[in-house]
Amino acid sequence: MTNEPNLVLLTGGTGFIGIKMLHTLLSRSYPVRLAVRSESKSASFLSNPALASLNKDDLISFVTIPDLTVPGAFDSALEGVKYVIHVASPMPTSAASKEQSLEQQHAFYVEPAVAATLSLLESAAKTPSVKKVVITSSIIAVIRPSVLLGQESTDEVFSAASPTPDEIPPPYNEPSGLLAYVASKIAALRATDQWVATHPDKHFDIVNVYPGYVFGRNLLAEKSSDMWTSTDAMLLRIPFGIVKEGDGNPPAAAAFAHLDDVAEVHVRALDENNPAVRGYKAFAVFSNGSEGKAWNNIRDVTKEKFPQEIADGVIPNDGALETVPVNADASETEKELGFKFKHLGSMVEDVVGQFLELKNRE
Ligand SMILES: NC(=O)c1ccc[n+]([C@@H]2O[C@H](COP(=O)([O-])OP(=O)(O)OC[C@H]3O[C@@H](n4cnc5c(N)ncnc54)[C@H](OP(=O)(O)O)[C@@H]3O)[C@@H](O)[C@H]2O)c1
Repeated sequence: MTNEPNLVLLTGGTGFIGIKMLHTLLSRSYPVRLAVRSESKSASFLSNPALASLNKDDLISFVTIPDLTVPGAFDSALEGVKYVIHVASPMPTSAASKEQSLEQQHAFYVEPAVAATLSLLESAAKTPSVKKVVITSSIIAVIRPSVLLGQESTDEVFSAASPTPDEIPPPYNEPSGLLAYVASKIAALRATDQWVATHPDKHFDIVNVYPGYVFGRNLLAEKSSDMWTSTDAMLLRIPFGIVKEGDGNPPAAAAFAHLDDVAEVHVRALDENNPAVRGYKAFAVFSNGSEGKAWNNIRDVTKEKFPQEIADGVIPNDGALETVPVNADASETEKELGFKFKHLGSMVEDVVGQFLELKNRE
């Protein structure tokens, strides 16, 4: 495997986006070395139906890195690797306990996000075979937190060209962990910016990818309850009425990305023949249609896509959430990478459709 010419090291493959990334890489015949935190995680990949149907097991190998944040953690994992896709990072949907103190939230979200990124970049700098490192950042890493939280209104357009904000929340010790997560993505992006600025002679390209909220078919979901464990839950909560008007839920910013497009952008970023993906680059990824930028549009699109299920009472379609207005634009990515992003209709069809399929089987 170390002699494979296009070998990709993938972190975060056990997650919602990572497994889709793995599926996309394998379907393009990239050999992939998966970095997992424990060996026990390896077996589940080989039995995953979506991966098994590709019949590409021979392209998958594993390396166990129990702690990505340790300096030198990636050294041997990068041996013979040409491309790195670094997806792993703590998410508010993962098993973080709620109600943590500010210090605990910092230790859970911010420290590992920054340390793993720096550990990866340092190891890559020692590995001549590495040509490109693609990092899954987030559009929230370039939107000023005051705008994201609706405390500042502005006409400014946030895109891949936006600078990393100077301000990092705290205070972020609120129960959902969301602000600590925002802080982790800003801090990791800042650390990458600083690393690039201090390593002008690095021998590889670095690409940051900024997805919005990611929605799509969850390749890890085996039963309907699994659909609530990824960011798909943020979409499902509108048709299934988990958030409702007058509930006191804080308004949230919205920019929706199809999971397929998020994976596609990462994989296209590996293309050495495209000058747009060379050097230190960033690509935003979310639907550029206005329908993909407001929570309550999910209700309208669900009505259009699932009229029978609504009439039958299977989908209450009675959720509502106010949107914090933020001007965000990912159209430059479509131009530079040469494909059009999917719209909210495809996201609703895929996520609500998968949820109902799984429910019907139970
Ligand atoms: N989903 C979205 O809407 C969205 C939007 C923008 C950006 N992103 C970014 O996309 C990436 C993946 O998100 P996701 O939605 O796929 O989340 P996910 O399903 O929770 O997956 C997270 C992945 O990261 C790994 N991970 C978490 N904490 C880690 C740590 N401290 N050390 C090492 N590995 C760790 C997990 O590994 P284990 O299985 O070992 O826990 C898992 O593979 C993250 O970087 C996230 O910030 C997501």
